[in-house]
Amino acid sequence: MDSFTTVGSMLEPLAHIGRDPKTGGYLRDSWSDADLELREWFAGEAARRGLDLREDRNGNLWAWWGAPSPERPGVVTGSHLDSVRQGGAYDGPLGVVSAFAALDLLRGRAVTPSVPVGVVCFADEEGARFGVPCMGSRLLTGVLSPERALGLTDDDGGTLAEAMRRAGRRPERAGRDDETLADVGTFVELHVEQGRGLVTEGRPVGVAAAIWPHGRWRFDFRGRADHAGTTGLADRDDPMLPFARMVLAAREAAQRRGVVATVGKVRVSPGNANAIPGLVSAWLDARGADESEVRGLVADLAQAVGADEPGAGPGPGPGGVDVREESWTPVVDFDVALRDRLARVAGGDTPAPILPTGAGHDAGILAAAGVPSAMLFVRNPTGVSHSPDEHAERADCEAGVVALADVLEDLCR
Ligand code: GLV
Ligand code: MN
Ligand code: MN
Ligand code: MN
Repeated sequence: MDSFTTVGSMLEPLAHIGRDPKTGGYLRDSWSDADLELREWFAGEAARRGLDLREDRNGNLWAWWGAPSPERPGVVTGSHLDSVRQGGAYDGPLGVVSAFAALDLLRGRAVTPSVPVGVVCFADEEGARFGVPCMGSRLLTGVLSPERALGLTDDDGGTLAEAMRRAGRRPERAGRDDETLADVGTFVELHVEQGRGLVTEGRPVGVAAAIWPHGRWRFDFRGRADHAGTTGLADRDDPMLPFARMVLAAREAAQRRGVVATVGKVRVSPGNANAIPGLVSAWLDARGADESEVRGLVADLAQAVGADEPGAGPGPGPGGVDVREESWTPVVDFDVALRDRLARVAGGDTPAPILPTGAGHDAGILAAAGVPSAMLFVRNPTGVSHSPDEHAERADCEAGVVALADVLEDLCR
């Protein structure tokens, strides 16, 4: 089977799912109608290939060629199908589509794997709806407790537990799942590159070296709602002002500390043009190669706005500010031997370039849980991601599938 047509034709039926026709961006929140449609698609692809479909207790989907067991764990590949809001077509789906396409290629080559081969779709990688990224893999590996996860709320105040129940799932079963994890011998995630490393290298496919430590923090600034026209400046308690100072301080501290910091989500309550807000909630995303600098930045900001160190305490009182950590992922250095093996196999004549990344991935969560894991990146001509402008050329996607098939063949020899 020609992998070029396979990737193109497999992305095609996904193109309309969750797409905002006005922007061309995708809205694929976990457990939304779009997510459920994508899950149906995954099940259909598994069935078409005669794979054994399983959904684990945390909503992760697994399609197996062969039956894995703790004595004979499989080689697994895949990624996720959910998206950030107004996301691109490739972040996640490219890895899932390429996984099925690579499996087709192995069968086309008449490869008989010595261990089972699995395709996975992890639940809620982006954390767009409930705030914590890599929810499915964090629950699976036990780094996130089901008590905390199930109580997380979306913008409408609905909990993850309610969303799962509405989708016909049983949230009470969520949590660390050693049985499922024991089936995974090795995990390889293919992903569109979210940067221009491969453009600089002039190569279509690369391998991940490490994932930067990264986290999300919520800042709640509370003031006093009042009339925009009749309240004198001296009489205001306007939470927009400390919020604005925080944004500027984040940029300054990031520059000084050599890390990156982003405030990409803000909620202003009640949100009237003609009223001083009563509450401004802002989400900070901070990442960098050096964990102490990332932590230092958050401490700088907490100090700049007069908050205590970030904690999980109760909300602020009137006029106060509260900072809470919503997620934290320590640095992930991928297994060096596995990484070098991938670079050799995927690179052809010259080993594939090995690149660090500031993006988070389920492969990082699995690696941290002790599963030998690695990642392949496919060139992104502009480096843009988490945006409708995200792109990968079809020829590079094809090269990614061939590289992934070569890697899987090597790993399950
Ligand atoms: C997810 O893609 C992230 O890196 O935030
Ligand atoms: Mn992403
Ligand atoms: Mn992704
Ligand atoms: Mn990601």
